[in-house]
Amino acid sequence: MPALPPHARDNSDMRNRRTFLAVLAPAAFAALVASPAQAQGEVLKIGVILPLTGTLASSGRQIEGAIKLWLAQHGNKVAGRTVQLIVRDDGTLPDTTRRLAQEMVVNDKVVALAGFGITPSALASAPIATQSKTPMVVMAAATSAITEASPYIVRTSFTLPQAAVGIAEWAAKNGIRKTVTLVADYGPGFDAEKYFAERMLLNGGQVVEKLRTPLRGPDFAPALQKVRDIKPDALFVFLPAGQGAAFMKQFAERGLDKSGIRLIATGDVTDDDQLADMGDVALGVVSSHHYSAAHTSAMNRKFVADYMALNKFRPNFMAVGGWDGMRVLYKALEASKGAGGDALLAAMKGQLFESPRGQVLIDAQTRDVVHDMHIRRVERRDGQLWNIEFDAIKAMKDPGKLR
Ligand code: PHB
Repeated sequence: MPALPPHARDNSDMRNRRTFLAVLAPAAFAALVASPAQAQGEVLKIGVILPLTGTLASSGRQIEGAIKLWLAQHGNKVAGRTVQLIVRDDGTLPDTTRRLAQEMVVNDKVVALAGFGITPSALASAPIATQSKTPMVVMAAATSAITEASPYIVRTSFTLPQAAVGIAEWAAKNGIRKTVTLVADYGPGFDAEKYFAERMLLNGGQVVEKLRTPLRGPDFAPALQKVRDIKPDALFVFLPAGQGAAFMKQFAERGLDKSGIRLIATGDVTDDDQLADMGDVALGVVSSHHYSAAHTSAMNRKFVADYMALNKFRPNFMAVGGWDGMRVLYKALEASKGAGGDALLAAMKGQLFESPRGQVLIDAQTRDVVHDMHIRRVERRDGQLWNIEFDAIKAMKDPGKLR
């Protein structure tokens, strides 16, 4: 067996536990460290599993920042009980996610599981949610089929079919016919590739080549060389959060930004977490996504300002999935009066609320998220790059659930 990478270390160490005591007011802190006997009956534990190290560490950091913000804004009391967040790092390794989920259910007796940075982590943990009847809030992972892996899964992120169909619709209306796709070689990439291609074909376009790059340690050079040779009207790209900047750099290094080949993408690529550092190559890139930090609602302006004041970096779509996931959990715990299991799950279904992204519905049938899919263009405003929204497909259900 090859040596384990540093992030694969055993996470059961108590030092890796984060309970966000630091951001809580002194009174809340005292409640959290109440005597174990008192805590037994009162504390509602939520187990949050995030990739805080490894390939998708940027997503874990974004969601952790959102949970800190939620707690700072809303406190840790729900239904007269104290909420305790147990946050653990899975190192972006699905086997670790599964083990941590099991430990949280069996040892910590959590009322809900949350987080789940990548599709394989969510899928690996789904049987634990089902067997223990523990609601599981997926705040990040975005392959359509995840919500079908357990009746206890509720999603607050988005789905790749939503994003891919959004940009394919825009492309077809804007004279783009001949395309090449480039996606990360796993679940969400397969969804992006499939739903983009289907919608292009439906609208009279073509996908002449389908390229894939590995999830871990991708080198985009061979794929970009092929794109250069084929010279499509546009290259459509899906890569998971955190890989967009490296891709853009190679795209520019190969002169593809000056080749006349348009770059179109899901918003994962023009990731708000990295956009400010991408430079001119990103200017003009059109993408579709459920969230932009530049969304113009009053609620989002406040969300971005508060998030940046607390965390010192710009929130991206992962942060919003985390913040909305906390909203769904808190409201459901209020409604169930702190009960878990089926009562808690029932109170999550059908929630309709305003989010920093716009209006969100948790579809009661599919437990998946329904929201606007925005079309955005990267522009420079006040010296910084932003995804500026200019069109939207309203209240979009997951196209993966419509067949
Ligand atoms: C996923 O693994 O489901 C995933 C991760 C990052 C993204 C989108 C999807 O940006």
